[in-house]
Amino acid sequence: MKKRSPSRTTLKEMARLAGEARARAHAPYSKFKVGAALKTRSGEIVTGCNVENASYGLSMCAERVAVFKAVSEGLSGFDAVAVVADARRLTPPCGPCRQILWEFAGDIEVILANLHEEKGRYRLSQLLPLPFDARLLGH
Ligand code: THU
Repeated sequence: MKKRSPSRTTLKEMARLAGEARARAHAPYSKFKVGAALKTRSGEIVTGCNVENASYGLSMCAERVAVFKAVSEGLSGFDAVAVVADARRLTPPCGPCRQILWEFAGDIEVILANLHEEKGRYRLSQLLPLPFDARLLGH
């Protein structure tokens, strides 16, 4: 059965909140600011922004910040994530973020938007078609 998706209004609100979080990004090196908003099925929304470091490899993407914030607050049961950047083209989550999202959120809806409009809507399984996960470890 197809999972119920959040309403259009909710997705718009998520993109708005991701845009607000994006403004708080610490991205002095790439100058590429990203915001994310992760939603639980019961409606709680947790945001994240990318946080870079002078030691570049320590930088963290907006999506993972949102996931780790949410998990550390005890939230679970996610059904959608919105990712916002100021780019004309899509800004899809990077590979590691897809893997982390899969671990904690499974096959959620992924909304990709810029500051002006939604650019794409995917299921995480479309972006990560052959996931490695706990099932393969026998869990
Ligand atoms: N970035 C994200 O935060 N999320 C994405 O989906 C793509 C990339 C960040 C990482 C880095 O701080 C900057 O964007 C440039 O790669």
